Amino acid sequence: MRLNKYIAQAGVASRRKADELTAAGKVKINGVVMTEMGYDVKPEDVVEVNGRALENAARPVYYVLNKPVGYITTAQDEQGRLTVMELMADVEQRVFPVGRLDCNTSGLLIMTNDGNLAYRLTHPKHNVYKTYRARVSGFLSPGRVEKLRTGVDIGGYVTAPAQVALLRQGDRSAIVEISICEGKNRQVRKMFAAVGNKVVELQRTAIGELKLGRLKEGQYRKLTPKEVEYLKNC
Ligand code: URA
Repeated sequence: MRLNKYIAQAGVASRRKADELTAAGKVKINGVVMTEMGYDVKPEDVVEVNGRALENAARPVYYVLNKPVGYITTAQDEQGRLTVMELMADVEQRVFPVGRLDCNTSGLLIMTNDGNLAYRLTHPKHNVYKTYRARVSGFLSPGRVEKLRTGVDIGGYVTAPAQVALLRQGDRSAIVEISICEGKNRQVRKMFAAVGNKVVELQRTAIGELKLGRLKEGQYRKLTPKEVEYLKNC
């Protein structure tokens, strides 16, 4: 990206002012004064203006967000509904959600500006298990649990084997942990509907070994380098 555009995008100065600062020797690239206004900034370059390093908009960043119910997983919404982007407003880089959670689903959502990782993680052939904690209405019989485990027809598609653990059966509802390796639209809700139970609450708690943990709803945190490495290789 051209140097003046890069400086302007960082919110430091207009493009014209950026050119002036460059001409005046106030801009450094990787610690060396740069007076060439047409310089093409590389992704790995560190740009300093008046001694202050700018945040590199192209640097890949990785976050995990605990999406609350009521937010939609999209970059923009024509109907003006709340989007997950609003929860990430403090992040300098333009991150976007990896995959989707329904508006009524809460939990773990990866937010990044790394298009390659997002592409890999959402590719249908990428079959890492995603774990959900669901509260479902009624009684979840052992027979139904078994059906969910082996595969159910969710409307012309039979789901792949899933891991299912009944955590608690109450009078009117049950708490279940379910891990699936596919990502069909509203899959978990459709799977429970197929065996006769309605999902009343749904939270994604993990993607593979990446866990939501104690992150509060509406909050986000940076992934650790180890977690990023894991996602790139899983
Ligand atoms: N399955 C669903 O039904 N909803 C989600 O948001 C994710 C998985």
